Formats: sequence, structure tokens, C-alpha cells
Amino acid sequence: MKFNVELKRVVDDSYDIEISGALQDKCVGDIENGLFGSVRRIAVVTDSNVLDLYAEGIRARLENAGFEAKLFTIPAGEESKTREMKEFVEDSMLAAGFRRDCAVLAVGGGVVTDLAGFVAGTYGRGVPFANYATTLLAAADASVGGKTAVDTPLATNLIGIFNQPKKVYIDIDAWKTLPIEQVASGLSETIKHGCLGDLELFEYLEKNVDKIFAGDRAACEYIAEHNCAVKYKVVMLDERESGLRETLNLGHTVGRAIETLSGYRLLHGEAVAIGMAAQVRLGNKLGYISQENMQRVIDLYKAARLPVGIPDYINRAELVKKLYTDKKVRNGKLRFVFQKEIGEVMQFGENVYAKPIAEEEIAAVLDEM
Ligand SMILES: NC(=O)c1ccc[n+]([C@@H]2O[C@H](COP(=O)([O-])OP(=O)(O)OC[C@H]3O[C@@H](n4cnc5c(N)ncnc54)[C@H](O)[C@@H]3O)[C@@H](O)[C@H]2O)c1
Repeated sequence: MKFNVELKRVVDDSYDIEISGALQDKCVGDIENGLFGSVRRIAVVTDSNVLDLYAEGIRARLENAGFEAKLFTIPAGEESKTREMKEFVEDSMLAAGFRRDCAVLAVGGGVVTDLAGFVAGTYGRGVPFANYATTLLAAADASVGGKTAVDTPLATNLIGIFNQPKKVYIDIDAWKTLPIEQVASGLSETIKHGCLGDLELFEYLEKNVDKIFAGDRAACEYIAEHNCAVKYKVVMLDERESGLRETLNLGHTVGRAIETLSGYRLLHGEAVAIGMAAQVRLGNKLGYISQENMQRVIDLYKAARLPVGIPDYINRAELVKKLYTDKKVRNGKLRFVFQKEIGEVMQFGENVYAKPIAEEEIAAVLDEM
């Protein structure tokens, strides 16, 4: 006897990304208007820094609007993006009586949106969630695209699920309270987006990068919109990372490895900046980017107050070994994504954007850095 369980699904996971300043009222208004259907209990997941700055205000507004809204707060920092912290949030939600009739609102940076989106995906086998992004990095990258995950001691972001939010709020006013190094960290992914798919964004940043540090409204809106446009274009065409989406991984092969080896002394964006410098150096050797454009990329990272060399405390041999934990590794071979000059990526076949690279080739570049 054999049953065929036919489960073909047509899913509409479309959602809006709203970019503006101070979106707290808009967010609560959307929830009142049914963003989460008939759900009345909202778990506001945040971190210890964002709690008083933005999350409590949103929770209070939700309560005033008649919702049962509770805060679930993790300690700020990448160290909190763990299975243990996911368990802590889940257990706290269970203890507070939250069941399947709830929704999750992530208020914070990429650590919070990654963790809360993962919690939402498994809590009660899945409850709706939305992201209220308060960092430039979350706006540029983490809060958009549906990838959620936690880190483990052996690798970053390898344990997680694809889970699309109901909506993403990008509050550019929230960038005003960000420490300078966090603005720089977010700019790192923004420059990456320019490198891989938006020459205009890259050239805009070459001229205006200081305006972002000064909190210039028009400049912040410009980069928020361009970031979303690049990410949207790539993610829409390849939600599940079968090929094209790997291009968003530009600079991340070396970047992730350095981030982990630094014991998170380096911020994500700082590590990615070093990874991008490695990628253009190797790309230049392989003929994918001219010397002049390679230098423009390195110079823009420097102008964005980001590192482009490997810190002395990182052991080069260990770094090369760590590269093999990259998710693009296939059959034990390192694979790299490369930009093609500025504003495009190299394609190595139909839907193939990552190229196998011999260990000695990348090791030689890392030695120079
Ligand atoms: N899911 C994805 O597609 C994706 C993409 C890129 C990065 N990420 C992940 O994103 C994370 C990094 O994101 P992040 O840089 O936003 O980290 P983060 O969430 O740790 O935020 C950075 C710091 O800024 C603080 N903060 C947040 N908003 C603030 C504000 N408005 N004012 C003052 N302080 C504020 C936080 O408390 C934290 O200390 C990494 O874990 C990375 O793996 C995910």
C-alpha cells in the first residue's frame, strides 16, 4: 500500500518595505489594520540597547491600541545570536502564556531580526512576524530577504530557516542614535551592493559618504532605497539561494572567516570590508577588475572608515583553514564570488556565480594583506 501525499503549494510571500523616519505609529497602525490578521498578542523582541530607545515606545503604543504586547529582551551584541538565546526567548514567551495565536515584532539590528525571525518560524510551527530595523546594516541587508539564523561556535548563520516577514520598517531616524562604527559597518554592505549591482550607488557614495555620517536625510534615504532595490532584484530572482543570491555573498568568504576568528572583535561590516578588499585583490589577479577600479573599491571602504587590511592578531594559516566553513564550499573546494569591474558580478556559467579557487591563490592574497 502506498499513499501519495500531494502537497503542491502556491505561496504568496510578498511584503512591503517602508522607508522613512520615525515609523513607530505607522507600524502600530498597520498592526491595528490587520498586518498580523486577527492576532492580539504581540511578542516584541529586542536587545538591551534598543529596548529604551525604540522597543518600549512601540510596546506602549501597541498596548494603548488594545493589544497584549510584551517585551522579550536579549543582551545586545552578536554573542546573543545563539541557539541558547533563541531558547531563552521561546521559553520566556511560553512562560508568558504566548501560544500559536501570537505574532513577533523584531525591533533592532540584524542580530534581533535574524534571531526573532527564526523564533517566529518555529514557534508554534510558525507565527507571523515583522521587522522594525534600527541599524543601517539591518536596513541594508539583514532585515530584508527572509534569511534568519543563529551562530554556533563553529560557524556563523548556518543554523536557520528561510522565513519572510509580513513587513519591514526601515526607520532612518534611528540611525541618529547609532554609534559611528555601527554606521560604518552598515555602509560596508551598502558599498558591497554598489559593487555587485549598482554603479550609480557606488559613485554616489564616492561623492557623499560623509553625508551619511552627518545624518543627512536625503542621503540616508537614497542609500536605504538603493540597498533595498539591489537586494530585492537579487532575492526576487533567487529566493532560495540556488545561484544568483550567492552574489550577495560577495566579500563574505574571507569576511565571515575573519569575523569568527576575531572572536567578534570586528563588527560584521568591518570584517566584510576586509573580505571585499581580498576579493578585489584576487579578482584583479584573475583579470576580473582593473587596478584602477580595485583601488576605487579599497579607497571607498577607507573613506567609510572601515579596515581593508587583516589585523595582526589574526593568524593567516588559521584564516585559510577557516575559509572551509563557508557555505559556498562544494566538494571540499573553496568557491568565491567576484565583482566584474564595478556594478556587476562575474558569471561563470548558466546560474553559476561562484568560482572554485585553489587554496594557494587566496592564501597568497591574504599574505599580502
Ligand atoms: N539575514 C540576513 O540576510 C543578514 C544579512 C546581513 C547581516 N546579517 C546579520 O546581521 C547582524 C549584524 O547586524 P547589525 O550590525 O544590525 O547588528 P546588531 O543587531 O548587533 O546591532 C549593532 C549594535 O547597535 C545597537 N543598536 C541597534 N540599533 C540601534 C540604534 N538605533 N541606536 C543605537 N544603538 C543601536 C545594538 O544594540 C548593537 O549593539 C549579524 O548577525 C549578521 O550575520 C543578516
